[in-house]
Amino acid sequence: MSESKVIIQLSDLHIVAEGSLHGKVDSFAILNEILATLEETGRFDAVLLTGDLADQGEPEAYRRLRSLVDAFSERTGVPVMYLPGNHDERGAFRAELFDDDDAERKSDQVLWIDGLRIIGLDSTAKDGHHGEFDDEQLTWLDEQLAVPAPLGTIVAFHHPPIPGPIDVINLITLREPERLAAVVEGRDVVMILAGHTHHVSGGALGGVPVWVATATAYQVDVRASDAGLFRGVTGSGFTRIDVDGSGAYATHLTPGTDENVLYQLDLELLRSHIGGASTEEKLDDALMSAGEH
Ligand SMILES: [Fe+2]
Ligand SMILES: [Fe+2]
Repeated sequence: MSESKVIIQLSDLHIVAEGSLHGKVDSFAILNEILATLEETGRFDAVLLTGDLADQGEPEAYRRLRSLVDAFSERTGVPVMYLPGNHDERGAFRAELFDDDDAERKSDQVLWIDGLRIIGLDSTAKDGHHGEFDDEQLTWLDEQLAVPAPLGTIVAFHHPPIPGPIDVINLITLREPERLAAVVEGRDVVMILAGHTHHVSGGALGGVPVWVATATAYQVDVRASDAGLFRGVTGSGFTRIDVDGSGAYATHLTPGTDENVLYQLDLELLRSHIGGASTEEKLDDALMSAGEH
């Protein structure tokens, strides 16, 4: 059993029943490309989908999503966790992804990857786009965390529990985050993962690092908000989270090809060059010997 674990977080997939988003973005094709790249080159132990899986919540959108993701999970043997966001429709989400006809049931769940525990929470509200947890959910989380996990715990849900730079969006993030902070503080939670904003953010809650992943479907241009605009732009990203027993760290990734390569060298060569008296010198040597510097 490998001690360290690699988790892939995909958020805000915004899959549609047919066609494209905003007449331009084929969110289904983007997801297909990301999964294909992961399968080809990635090393990972679980995939978390943190909400807004469908753009309009149609049953067909979930069927399309599941046809890709479940097949990917079966081929790779890697488990997948589906979590909802404000764009998701709870009844269709439960029916199509969990084969559950209880349209009221929240999608709280636990997934164990050897010694790593992943707790997924349903932060969606019935009456709006903001996020919330009821007393029952926080009590359940508290009970789960009563027993620590050997590698620690990741808590994942859709709505960020920290503010972001666009003030109006802060009206639809997680309400009363201090209640969650009181539950996770001092426990074994190594990272809290969220999505929703379509841009990357980092912060902390109750002493726990918080990572807000961007969307796979399209991005929010934060700079435009300084000019008084709320602007969506094309682009895609996702996250890799490494958990190694001493904590967790998150890395933002973008789907892509070899088109933009500036240099590359064998990692073994790099390892053999780094670790001496001057790391910078050794790295410089390695790049020189790759003939690309
Ligand atoms: Fe979204
Ligand atoms: Fe959202």
